[in-house]
Amino acid sequence: MILVTGATGKVGGQTASQLLDAGLPVRALTRDPTSAALPKGAEVVRGDLADPATLDDALDGVESVFLVWPTLSADHAAPSTIEKIAKHARHVVYLSARGVPDLAPGTPEPDPNSILGSHALIERLIERSGPEWTFLRPGGFAANTLMWASQIRDTGTVRWVHGGATRALIHERDIAAAGVSVLTGTGHAGARYVLSGPETLTQIEQVTAIGEAVGRAVRWEELPPEEALRELVGQGWPPAAAKGLIDGHARMAMFPESVTSTVEELTGRPGTPFRQWAADHADAFR
Ligand SMILES: NC(=O)c1ccc[n+]([C@@H]2O[C@H](COP(=O)([O-])OP(=O)(O)OC[C@H]3O[C@@H](n4cnc5c(N)ncnc54)[C@H](OP(=O)(O)O)[C@@H]3O)[C@@H](O)[C@H]2O)c1
Repeated sequence: MILVTGATGKVGGQTASQLLDAGLPVRALTRDPTSAALPKGAEVVRGDLADPATLDDALDGVESVFLVWPTLSADHAAPSTIEKIAKHARHVVYLSARGVPDLAPGTPEPDPNSILGSHALIERLIERSGPEWTFLRPGGFAANTLMWASQIRDTGTVRWVHGGATRALIHERDIAAAGVSVLTGTGHAGARYVLSGPETLTQIEQVTAIGEAVGRAVRWEELPPEEALRELVGQGWPPAAAKGLIDGHARMAMFPESVTSTVEELTGRPGTPFRQWAADHADAFR
């Protein structure tokens, strides 16, 4: 039995579906089974990663866990939740993030209140917990561009910051496929896989590709960083995490994210281009 957390979300949902397609038994975790849309065939269990006492049913009899962590919001419970997972699972595949520093002497730890700091915390806890582990460290998700969907639908213009920021955005399906290869294959214990899409595009090029997918021209309008920060904080982002995101994009305008070959190495198929992701999700932008 494989427990998939984040199973109502983008990567966990794809992972659960692909495992089921491969004929494997899947248990899907959600905080609210009544409203959750989950892949047909999954055993659905209620549980909250921020409250380890709720995880007994979810962990009973599991062999492996595909762990999507609710970054920052559940970190206070992380030591006891990871300890509990370690009592049951033989292998934990953790959806981490590109940029988490490896634990080598002298490596500075990221700010614990940042997204990378949260992933670093969870990685360290898993490394010390006992079961075999594998870390998937994807860079930016193609799905992050869904944050522009309402602007594109309403105005045909994206007002955002650092249009020259260049990323190798990855399709959630490819992250899941890498996870499925790890969960169903051998020789992945102790590996930290940096995953990316197969090409780099600036944010302006991403917007153009979305326009092509929906069949309408979409414009880019550059927003000053201070205004973007105010918007993110207004949407409920913690200020430090919002600033980290915007500063990260400023860096990627100067130093583009690089492409890795790990998706193809793990799955035997090249990664999906961003244009295909945009075509797969065109309805969200119409
Ligand atoms: N976006 C990026 O560019 C990027 C890059 C690298 C890594 N990541 C990492 O990817 C992860 C997010 O993956 P995603 O985008 O696939 O997720 P998502 O679509 O945002 O969905 C979030 C999932 O987390 C679950 N969840 C939230 N709080 C929970 C809790 N307290 N206990 C149990 N489950 C909880 C939700 O399940 P219910 O609501 O059903 O309970 C939902 O299935 C984060 O850790 C993020 O840092 C993101």
